[in-house]
Amino acid sequence: MINVPVMEEKGQARGDALLRIDGVGISFQGVKALEEVSFDVPRGGVTSVIGPNGAGKTTLFNCITGLYRSEGQISLAGRPLDRLASHDRVAAGISRTFQTPALLDDATVLDNVLLGAHARTAAGFWRCAARSPLARREERRSARRSGSRGPSRGAARPGRRRSPR
Ligand SMILES: Nc1ncnc2c1ncn2[C@@H]1O[C@H](COP(=O)(O)OP(=O)(O)OP(=O)(O)O)[C@@H](O)[C@H]1O
Ligand SMILES: [Mg+2]
Repeated sequence: MINVPVMEEKGQARGDALLRIDGVGISFQGVKALEEVSFDVPRGGVTSVIGPNGAGKTTLFNCITGLYRSEGQISLAGRPLDRLASHDRVAAGISRTFQTPALLDDATVLDNVLLGAHARTAAGFWRCAARSPLARREERRSARRSGSRGPSRGAARPGRRRSPR
């Protein structure tokens, strides 16, 4: 595990544990993939989990994101996540990328990014389906935050080429 502090957030004490992993363990058919894993992820830094193939890194991320139910306790900013479903953990502030990225082949790069940003918007299914003013405002804000000036239609579309796996 490597912790690299990169920035200090205003009003946040450095070294304050944002994510706490406490005694996490999980077995698959009697094979212990993780046993008594404990560490803190401090605020305002980049923390890396390193280890050889099969060490349990992805399994740990699956426990943190709620894909697997594990022993021990995982808490975010003091709030236990253990009883929360994956989508509630996302709402609490957890997000992840996957070892094998799954992109929508027929969507633009920006639209794929906006899909990820959707979890941080408030408009919901019906307002998005109806393209309500709130939904469009949030989409423009997400696009700006992604570094774009607005959703691209046409020019950047990849056509029907499949993205590399
Ligand atoms: N769903 C599962 N069912 C059975 N065994 C599993 C399952 N998920 C993970 N494992 C086992 O848990 C162990 C840890 O695997 P994991 O994929 O977490 O390792 P990793 O550190 O991410 O490896 P890599 O560097 O290759 O990505 C392995 O022995 C793996 O076979
Ligand atoms: Mg892995």
